[in-house]
Amino acid sequence: MSISIHPLNAVLGAEVEGLDLRNPLSADTASALRNAWLKYKVLLIRDQDLTCEQQIAFSKNFGELEAPVMTLLKYKEGSGQKTEIPPEITVVSNVKENGKPIGQLGNGEAFWHSDSNFIEDPPSGGILHAKEIPPAGGNTAFLDTAALLAALPESLREKIKTLSCKHDPSLSSTGTLRKDFEPLTDVSKNRGPAHPLIVTHPETNEKSLFLGRRLNAYIADLDVAESDSLLDELWEYTQGNRFVYEHTWRVGDLLIWDNRAVLHRRDSFDDSHRRVMHKTVLKGTRPH
Ligand code: OGA
Ligand code: MN
Repeated sequence: MSISIHPLNAVLGAEVEGLDLRNPLSADTASALRNAWLKYKVLLIRDQDLTCEQQIAFSKNFGELEAPVMTLLKYKEGSGQKTEIPPEITVVSNVKENGKPIGQLGNGEAFWHSDSNFIEDPPSGGILHAKEIPPAGGNTAFLDTAALLAALPESLREKIKTLSCKHDPSLSSTGTLRKDFEPLTDVSKNRGPAHPLIVTHPETNEKSLFLGRRLNAYIADLDVAESDSLLDELWEYTQGNRFVYEHTWRVGDLLIWDNRAVLHRRDSFDDSHRRVMHKTVLKGTRPH
């Protein structure tokens, strides 16, 4: 099978054509894809229709899987059959069944974040496979954090080069309090983990700005006011849609991002429409 790889824009992302991911990849194809993932940071593969098991098998070409901590759910696919969702798959969805959400994140806007920045070893990547997509809204955008770092003035890069930021798990990327967490009222009480603001990619050695997410972030050892104003200054550089690929979903899309190299966000969408994504998460290592 021969594949072709086309950049999605001048900044990041590439579409890969010529793949049927229901079948195991050859070693050559797997390694070409993995290299393209590191190079382009986001890969799009369209027109796939994968079972959970096929998505899991495909995902393992990129590394070991992280078992999602937050969820173990069932949902009814279009066929009307109850489908058992294996623990490696997280359902990302606004759909409710019998009043209970079948997945995470609802229909609200998800602010810029990298996944699970609040754990010691944040995931190296995420893979979303679109099962049901609303007619409008719910786009997902990716921002190149190496370009973000490069855009900072030299003086600001110098200022942050020895600083670490503490990351808090209590709020989801839509800003809602997670089950079993207390609200954090004083960010200086954020217990971490702390990750350096400037990190080196463990595979490409590229340096990038590791912001994680804005809410409840705290730059260790600074006054809260100082930390807040420095974080606001840094986050300002994420504005303006520079360094961004924004994805408009179609059913069957499979998109894989390098969680060490990009931030992502998602637009809100009308809750009267269904959006169902199957997600796999790749285990990561401690940022340094
Ligand atoms: C996620 C996420 C975005 C989306 O699952 O981590 O940010 O488009 N999802 O649903
Ligand atoms: Mn996310």
